[in-house]
Amino acid sequence: MESALTARDRVGVQDFVLLENYNSEAAFIENLRRRFRENLIYTYIGSVLVSVNPYKELEIYSKPQMERYRGVSFYEISPHIYAVSDNTYRAMRTERKDQCILISGESGAGKTEASKKILLYYAVTCPTNDHMAALGDRLLQSNPVLEAFGNAKTLRNDNSSRFGKYMDVQFDFRGAPVGGHILNYLLEKSRVVHQNHGERNFHIFYQLLDGGEDDLLITLDLERNPQKYQYLVKGNCPRLSSVSDKNNWKVVMKALPVIGFTEEEKLLNIIASVLHLGNTQFGEGEEGETYITTETQIHHLSKLMGVDGSALGEALTHKKLTAKGEEMISPLSFEQALSARDALAKAVYGRTFTWLVEKINQSLALKDELYHSSKGSSVIGLLDIYGFEVLQHNSFEQFCINYCNEKLQQLFIELTLRSEQEEYETEGIAWETVQYFDNKIICDLIEEKHKGIISILDEECLRPGETCDVSFLEKLEDALGGHPHFVTHKLANGKTRRVMSREEFRLLHYAGEVNYNVNGFLDKNNDSLNRNLKEVMCQSDNQILQHCFRREEVIDQKRPEMAATQFKNSLMKLMEILMSKEPSYVRCIKPNDAKQPGRFDEVLVRHQVKYLGLMENLRVRRAGFAYRRRFEAFLQRYKPLCPETWPNWHGRLSDGVSTLVSHLGYKPEEYKLGRSKIFIRFPKTLFTTEDALEAKKPEIVIVIQSGWRGMKARRRAKRRRQAAELIRRFIKGFIYRHEEYCPENEYFLDHVRYSFLKNLRQNLPKSVLDKNWPTPPPLVAEASEHLRRMHMRNMTLKYCRRVQPEWKKQMMQKVEASKIFKDQKDSYPQSVGRLFLDSRLVMYRENTQHLRRFSHCFTLGNDKVQYGVSVIKYDRRGFKPRPRQLLLTNTFAVLVDRTKIKQRMDYSAMRGISVSSLSDGVFVVHMPSEDNKQKGDVVLHCSHVIELVTKLAMMANKVSYVNISPGSIRFAVARGKEGIIDFVRGSELKVAKGKRGHLLVVSQRLY
Ligand SMILES: Nc1ncnc2c1ncn2[C@@H]1O[C@H](COP(=O)(O)OP(=O)(O)O)[C@@H](O)[C@H]1O
Ligand SMILES: [Mg+2]
Repeated sequence: MESALTARDRVGVQDFVLLENYNSEAAFIENLRRRFRENLIYTYIGSVLVSVNPYKELEIYSKPQMERYRGVSFYEISPHIYAVSDNTYRAMRTERKDQCILISGESGAGKTEASKKILLYYAVTCPTNDHMAALGDRLLQSNPVLEAFGNAKTLRNDNSSRFGKYMDVQFDFRGAPVGGHILNYLLEKSRVVHQNHGERNFHIFYQLLDGGEDDLLITLDLERNPQKYQYLVKGNCPRLSSVSDKNNWKVVMKALPVIGFTEEEKLLNIIASVLHLGNTQFGEGEEGETYITTETQIHHLSKLMGVDGSALGEALTHKKLTAKGEEMISPLSFEQALSARDALAKAVYGRTFTWLVEKINQSLALKDELYHSSKGSSVIGLLDIYGFEVLQHNSFEQFCINYCNEKLQQLFIELTLRSEQEEYETEGIAWETVQYFDNKIICDLIEEKHKGIISILDEECLRPGETCDVSFLEKLEDALGGHPHFVTHKLANGKTRRVMSREEFRLLHYAGEVNYNVNGFLDKNNDSLNRNLKEVMCQSDNQILQHCFRREEVIDQKRPEMAATQFKNSLMKLMEILMSKEPSYVRCIKPNDAKQPGRFDEVLVRHQVKYLGLMENLRVRRAGFAYRRRFEAFLQRYKPLCPETWPNWHGRLSDGVSTLVSHLGYKPEEYKLGRSKIFIRFPKTLFTTEDALEAKKPEIVIVIQSGWRGMKARRRAKRRRQAAELIRRFIKGFIYRHEEYCPENEYFLDHVRYSFLKNLRQNLPKSVLDKNWPTPPPLVAEASEHLRRMHMRNMTLKYCRRVQPEWKKQMMQKVEASKIFKDQKDSYPQSVGRLFLDSRLVMYRENTQHLRRFSHCFTLGNDKVQYGVSVIKYDRRGFKPRPRQLLLTNTFAVLVDRTKIKQRMDYSAMRGISVSSLSDGVFVVHMPSEDNKQKGDVVLHCSHVIELVTKLAMMANKVSYVNISPGSIRFAVARGKEGIIDFVRGSELKVAKGKRGHLLVVSQRLY
C-alpha cells in the first residue's frame, strides 16, 4: 500500500480501493489503461489481483523476481501474481488454513498462464527433497498432457482450455509440496465432432498426425494429412503458426512416462478411433433404412477399439428400446445415425479425458509412505475456470459457465463480507450495512429444486410425449414469468423485444444481461448415448474403454443424471471445497481480440470489467473503509507529521495514533480506531496525509542529516581523543622503560614484549646451522635465551629423528675424522664434503653410492671385510713402491697383492699411525717388529688417507694413537734401525728417495 501511495501520481493507483471515484467505470478503466501502457499489467482491488494479458513476454517472472516477492508483505511491493502466490502460501503456513486461488476471466485472458506461474513459483521457492522434486516435475509435466487433450485453438485463444480445472496442491508441515489432485469440469465435448470456422479440434489429433512416426500411423490406419478426417476439417484450420504440433507431440510423449503412463498404445488407439468414427459415413436405403457406406472404417474401428465390428455397425444404425419389459430394436434414420455416431465419438473422447485426469491424479497422489509426514499438511487450490461468457449466440455451454460464475460471485460476496465482518468484530468496530448486490436471487433462479431453470430443463427432457427446445422455453415462461431476472421475447417490453429472438431467454446476471438461445438445450442436457452402443463399448478389449464404459451402466435401468444437473452437483461440491478454504482472487482481462501486445481496446475491456463484476468487487471492498493499517505501521510512517509523535512515541500505540490523527485534523466520520488498526474511510483523507508527509520530507531529511553528521563528528572526535591518549601513554612508557614494571610503563613494556615475540615468531631460524636470532630487548633477554635453546633443541631433535642408520654411521666417522684431523692436516678440509665409502676397491667402484651393499661382501677367515682400498706400499729400504690393497676387518688389517696376503696387522698389536700435517696421502702404521707374525712398521700411500686412517683408527679403537707430524715421521726398520720420511711443500706431489736415505714426500700446496 505504501508503495502504491508513492507511485500513484505516476501510473494511476496500484490498488483500485484508493480510487477516489470508485463508482466510475470510466475512472476504473482509465487507471487500467494508464498502467497497461507502462506494462504494469497487475493492479489490486484490495486483495483481488486484476491482471491484463500483455500478449508479450515481460521481464517480470525471473527467479530474482520470485525472490523479491518472497516473504514480503502484500502491500509493500508492486502488485504481482507472485505476491498473491506468496501471500497465499504464507497464510497457509502461518494460519494453518487451506487456501485457494480463484482465477477467472474470458478465454484468452491469461488464466492458464497465471495458474502455471503460480505453480512454477511454488516449484521454485518451496523447500523440496528428492521425492518432492519428482512431484514438482509431475505437476509441471501433467500440464502439457492435459493441454494436449483438453485445449484447442479457438478464435480467442490459440491454446484455449476447453475444460474447467481445479487443482489442489498439498503441502506438508514443512511447507514442501507433497501431492496434487485435479478436478475437471465440463469438457467441451461438442468440439470433438464440430468446430466453428477458424477453430480446431483438440490439439492431440493434430499432434498425433504431425508428430507420430510412420510406423505408428500405419498401425493406427491413419494418414498424415488432417484434411482427410471429417472431424478435423470443419473449422478449416489444420495448422497454426504459433503452435508446433510436432514439437508438442514430442513434449507430450516425453511427459507421459513422467506422470506414470504405460498405456500409451491403448490411448492412441482411442484417439485414432475417434478420427475413424468421424469418417464413418451412412447411406439411406430406398425404404428409409440407414446403412453404413464405409465398411473399412468399421473394420479399423473394430480393430482399434477392440470391439466386434458387426455389433458396432448394428449399434450405429439401430437403437434398442425397452417397452413394457420387452426389448425392441428399431432402425435409426439417417440423421439419427449421424448423431448416434457423434454421440459415441463425444462419449469416447470425454470419458477418456476423465480417465486421463484420474490417471494423472494417481501419479500426483500423496504416497503412502509420505502419509505420516503429511500430518498437519495444508492445501492450496487453484481454480482455472472460464469467466463469464457472452457470445453472439449463447447456448447451453454459456449457460453453465455463467451459472458457475454466479456461484463464484456468491462465494466472493459471502467470503469477503464475512472476512470484513470478522475484522470489524475483532477490531471492535460496529458493523455497518454494506450496499452491494446479492446475486443469490439469480443462483436460485437457475438451481432451485423444482422451480429453477435446471429442474425445468430436466423435467422437459424426461417428460414423455413430444418435447423440444421450444416447449422447454414455454415451460420456462410459464414457471418464471415475472421473475425480475428472467425475460423472454414474449415477456419483454417493446424495447427489449426488439433485440431478442423468439427462441431466446434472457437472464439478468449480476454482471449483466445474457441472451440464451434454447436450440440444442435438450439434446445437450440429455447427452445420451444409445444403450446398444454402450453395450458394444462395454465389451471392448481396450482396458481404458473397459474402464470408461462400465457394465453396470447398461444393467442399471436408472437414468443417469442430466448434464446440467451433473454440472450443478459438481459445482455444489466445488463450492463446498472452496468454502472450506481462504480464497484469493485473480481476475484476468484480455485487452484486445487480436492477441496483439500494446493494444487496449476500451470497449472490450469495459465489457470484461462489467462481466467480471469488478466494479461490484470494488464496491464490496469499499463498502466499509478504504484503508486500514496496523497502529505501529501507521505511526511509523506518519509520525513526523506531529511534534508529539516525532521522533519517537513512547506511550501506547493507540494513543500515539489518536494524538497523530487529531493533530492532522481528521474528522470523526473520516476514521475509526479499532483494537490494533486504524480504519480510514476515504482515500482522500489518506492522500492528504500522504501529501503532508511528502511536503514534510525535506524537513525530516535536514533533521536526519544533521543528526547523522553530528553523530559522525562525535565519533571522529572520540577516536581522535583515544589516539592522543594512546600516544601519550606510549611516550611516558618510553621514558620510564628502564624502571620496574609500573602503571606508567606497563603499556609500553607490554608492547615491547609483544612486538619482540611477534617479530621472533616470523623470524625463527629454519635450520640447525642457522645461528641467527633476533636481538632481544633487555626486558626479555632471559626469556629469549630460553626460547632460543628450546628452539634449537627442538630443531636438533627433529633433525636427529630424520637421520637414517647409514647416515648416522657416516656422521660418526666424520666426527672422528674431525677430532683427529681438524686443523692438523692440510687435506682434511677437502675431505669433509666427501662421503666416506664402505669400500674403494675397483670392483665396487661403479656402485659406490650404495654404501650398504659392500659392507659384507667378502670375508677373510671368519672376519668380514669392512673396508678395502688401493694403497701403495713403500719398501722400508730403498722405498720401492708396490701397489697393494689394504683390507680392514674388525680385528685386523691385511695388505694384499691381488689374492695373496702379504702382511697381516692385528689391531691389538698396532702401536700407532702416523701421518703428515700436509696434504699428502702417506702414512705409517707402526707395528712391533719383534713379533714374528708382524713385520714391523709399514709405509703406505693412499689417496683417501683421511677416510682410511679414520676407519682404521676407529676399528682398531686407537684414535688417540694417530700421530700427526709436521715435518717428518720416523719409523722402525728391522733391528733397531729407523727410517725417516721428510715432508715438504712443493709444486706437485712427489714421493721419492731423498737425501740421507730419507723418503722425501713433496705435497702440493693447496692454497
Ligand atoms: N502473463 C502473461 N505474459 C505473457 N503472455 C501471456 C500472459 N498471460 C497470457 N499470455 C498470452 O495469452 C495467451 C492466452 O493465455 P491463456 O492463459 O491460455 O488464456 P486462458 O487460459 O485465460 O484462456 C497465452 O498463450 C499467452 O500467449
Ligand atoms: Mg486456459
